[in-house]
Amino acid sequence: MMNRRLFVQGLSAATLLAKSITSFAEANVGDPAAPAPVRLGIIGPGSRGKELIRNFLRVPGVTIGAAADVYAPRFQELNQLCGYTVAAHSDYRALVDRKDLDAIVVATPLSFHAQHVIAALQSGRHVYGEKTMAFTVAEVNDIVKTVDAGKQIFQVGHQYRYAPWIRSAIDYVRRGEIGDVTHVYGYWHRNSDWRRPVADPSLERLINWRLYNEYSLGLLAELGSHHIDIANWVFGETAQAAYATGSIAVYHDGRENDDNVQAILSYSKGRRFVFSSLTDNAEVGNQLWIYRTKGSLNLTFEDAGFFYEPKRANQLASKPGDKVKAITAGASYRPAGEMPYRGAGKRLDIPVTEDLTTTACRAFIDCIRTGQKPIADARVGRGSALSVITGNKALSAKRELEVPSSV
Ligand SMILES: NC(=O)c1ccc[n+]([C@@H]2O[C@H](COP(=O)([O-])OP(=O)(O)OC[C@H]3O[C@@H](n4cnc5c(N)ncnc54)[C@H](O)[C@@H]3O)[C@@H](O)[C@H]2O)c1
Repeated sequence: MMNRRLFVQGLSAATLLAKSITSFAEANVGDPAAPAPVRLGIIGPGSRGKELIRNFLRVPGVTIGAAADVYAPRFQELNQLCGYTVAAHSDYRALVDRKDLDAIVVATPLSFHAQHVIAALQSGRHVYGEKTMAFTVAEVNDIVKTVDAGKQIFQVGHQYRYAPWIRSAIDYVRRGEIGDVTHVYGYWHRNSDWRRPVADPSLERLINWRLYNEYSLGLLAELGSHHIDIANWVFGETAQAAYATGSIAVYHDGRENDDNVQAILSYSKGRRFVFSSLTDNAEVGNQLWIYRTKGSLNLTFEDAGFFYEPKRANQLASKPGDKVKAITAGASYRPAGEMPYRGAGKRLDIPVTEDLTTTACRAFIDCIRTGQKPIADARVGRGSALSVITGNKALSAKRELEVPSSV
């Protein structure tokens, strides 16, 4: 169900979209203050690709010049979204060969990311490439090398790096608000079989690519990659080893990828990220818990709040007979037991003013215009992707595996 905030954003998005198309045309007629035009191409205007385009069109000065997709109905959908006809190519190479694009958005299934991103970068274009950055370790490294060899901007679709409340909360954590973090727990649970309706069985793998291991690294990639990125950010490093398990517990429908996954990533100094993804119950939803002795940070993709730990009686009583005092930190404390501990918490009061994907898209266009480096760069993408890839290998191998070094 769409909540009110998103609904209101949806309305304002439609208004803004209409405005951005007309105002861009108007703004550029003899207006020296008009933003430099940026003409985008897109490879893979499917579900996420169209969402990205909807958001890019909110940025003044952006137009869509061309699209490439192997599934023809996408072109009409894109034209409707843009309100004008976008040049259509069935082969991405024809789009990359065009001379009239400034940047290319890649939103194809995971197994095609590297092929499309590298071709786009080698054509001299800036690239916004969706997460997970690539499908294999070699492809991840090839993207980093190609980015390093050129001057183009490459931004990866880890848009949570741009969330003001996450940035602020992680800043507090890194400055010691709850002590040096030892554990991050991430839950991204859904109540949906992840299947998309397919009119013609010959389209099954194209439409439902997420369910097949030829194209997808499953839940760890599709959902876990964002959480892993946040864990990397909190710990200030990438994981050293990965263990994962999963099964098909519910949806016995011919899919190859698991419908539930659990993973443990190991970082230096014994620190851990623990991840769970279920697809048959959404009660816990999508949240991260970041732990240390002084307290916890609860992070969601809409808000953030700190909960402070009471000091335990046995830590406070320095010698037998000492009175325990100054126990609480803003919440009730039950000396009789540890559970449940539900402190009042301190919510970070950072208003969400726009769709996060808009923020990330705007940041990419700003980087193109100013030459600044993106926050979610190829190294951010690599850190998460290497853990996703290794986690999937560990899942098959049924043992912990070393994550290739990120340096
Ligand atoms: N950052 C985020 O929050 C976020 C959210 C959703 C999806 N994604 C990512 O976006 C990517 C796309 O996901 P989606 O849900 O939009 O998938 P989708 O299936 O809806 O869209 C993919 C599009 O690529 C096209 N395509 C497939 N193979 C192609 C090829 N070889 N050449 C050209 N076009 C091809 C398909 O026809 C389709 O239109 C995935 O990597 C996914 O993980 C990111």
